[in-house]
Amino acid sequence: MIDAPAPSFVVWFTGISGAGKSTIASVVEERLREKGLPVHNLDGDAVRHGLNRDLGFSDADRVENIRRVGEVARLFNNAGMIVLVAAISPFREGRDAARALVEPGRFVEVHVDTPLEVAERRDVKGLYKKARAGQLLNFTGIDSPYEAPEQPEVRIDSSFESAEDAADEVFRVLATMGLLTT
Ligand code: ADX
Repeated sequence: MIDAPAPSFVVWFTGISGAGKSTIASVVEERLREKGLPVHNLDGDAVRHGLNRDLGFSDADRVENIRRVGEVARLFNNAGMIVLVAAISPFREGRDAARALVEPGRFVEVHVDTPLEVAERRDVKGLYKKARAGQLLNFTGIDSPYEAPEQPEVRIDSSFESAEDAADEVFRVLATMGLLTT
């Protein structure tokens, strides 16, 4: 009997800065690795230091950032890997375009829907403070828009849920969608 191919799909975490996208993606990544599954974590911050280091935070640059991330996700996915993306990806159109690049039913949009007040209070990177002081322009949620997904496969509010619980929820949906059996 031929072994079934490894499952490949994209889990796309979207939400404002400080919402908890990368933290949850890391937990999901770790658990997939423990299952022996091939996974690649495309973190927005990391990608911006390499492939997308020529891009800033204007609307046009964000559109291009997400277009490239979507294309890279598709390439890894086609190579048989599970891809996790953690990027603000503020525009609905860009996320939908990324979804359209993979096979139907293999794109899992996770809205890390933590309220702005909570993300701003955390201010892990000190960027909200700078944005409020006018030292950082076009900051998502302050003076740059975030378009929330209308029908994400998963919605998480990290002010109520731990990253572990959020990861549980992601795995529950992956199972429901038939993407993972165990
Ligand atoms: S996206 O909008 O193009 O999807 P991306 O996820 O790659 O954004 O990068 C967001 C990260 O860049 C934030 O978590 C934050 O650390 C940093 N950052 C720097 N400037 C900004 C800004 N003006 N708006 C949002 N995030 C910024």
